[in-house]
Amino acid sequence: YHAAVGATTVERWASDLIFFASDKREEEVVRALCSCFLRRSVQRLFVVQQVVKGDEDELADKLVEAASALSPRTFRYIGYPKRSEGVVGKAMFERGLGFSPTSFTSVLYGGVIEKKGVAFFGVSQREPFQREMVRGEDFVSKAQYKMEELLSSLNLLQQIQPKSILDLGASPGGWSMQVAQAFPDSRVLAVDKGSLHPSVLALPNITHSATTLTPANAESVLSPHSPFDVVVCDVNMHPAEACTLLRPVLSYLRSGGVLVFTIKCFFKQVKASGSDLIDTVKRFLSPGHRPRGRGEEGEKASGDGGAAADAHESEEEGGHSFTNIEVVWLVANTIHERTVVAVKE
Ligand SMILES: C[S@@+](CC[C@H](N)C(=O)[O-])C[C@H]1O[C@@H](n2cnc3c(N)ncnc32)[C@H](O)[C@@H]1O
Repeated sequence: YHAAVGATTVERWASDLIFFASDKREEEVVRALCSCFLRRSVQRLFVVQQVVKGDEDELADKLVEAASALSPRTFRYIGYPKRSEGVVGKAMFERGLGFSPTSFTSVLYGGVIEKKGVAFFGVSQREPFQREMVRGEDFVSKAQYKMEELLSSLNLLQQIQPKSILDLGASPGGWSMQVAQAFPDSRVLAVDKGSLHPSVLALPNITHSATTLTPANAESVLSPHSPFDVVVCDVNMHPAEACTLLRPVLSYLRSGGVLVFTIKCFFKQVKASGSDLIDTVKRFLSPGHRPRGRGEEGEKASGDGGAAADAHESEEEGGHSFTNIEVVWLVANTIHERTVVAVKE
């Protein structure tokens, strides 16, 4: 990430604020952000002109001082953290500055880092980079950022140059769009009873099967398009349920084909129980898998009883076997998600 923005010094100023010095010009930094998956994570970019000791009041004083050198004097204020905008804005208004959210001539921006007891600020002719500015028409869902990041950071899919791809649970079509554009010679089957965004449907290599996949209809829906070189799946389900959904589907993935799916843990204790869920998925994908350093007793006591039972069931059935199983935490994954990538044996 440092390289993308040309950062020479990096300091974490707060849990959601990183300061970096860069030898690149502002436009170059913004271009670098916009052209890589970091744009998903960076909310705003402030160009720091000065750092001073003090709180919101001092920040307002400094901003008024900087603004009074400018004319005409109608401003917009953008602040960090967002909740401080009102306080600092009001303090500046009381000191005589005029504000307009639409017809401003300069943008004032600033932030207070409470823990360090310092504030930073700057004045600009235009708005600082904001994430909304790069949400182009080519993005149809937030989920799409995950596939974009995966494609840009993992070479596996490029290596196999897939010709046939299944996107299970595709609506509104972010993942389908990413893979269809990355592999224009492929055919993408997007299965979801939900609709696809018109810009996804407009792609020449996408077929929408508007249905909910079940074990009963799996053959009629999938076999005309199979075998698949890649199966991707981003359904909102407990990982054990997702495994159950995937079980019949994986027969249609060719040997050497790649599976990508999101593990979603819909509860707060992701750190405590998340690893059990990841083991559940690993056992499902690789029946011989045993969590390291844990015996049968430990597994039984793991607290995800249903999931573990399901995984054992899949072992009994023999299931499908995968190698190179990687569980990655993408920048675009939420705190409760991990992305699994695996190759079918
Ligand atoms: C989080 S959304 C997928 C977002 C998508 N990856 C994107 O980038 O736009 C999950 C979707 O899975 C679909 N889904 C859940 N179970 C399904 C099933 N059995 N068959 C097909 N689609 C299913 C839901 O209808 C929902 O639209």
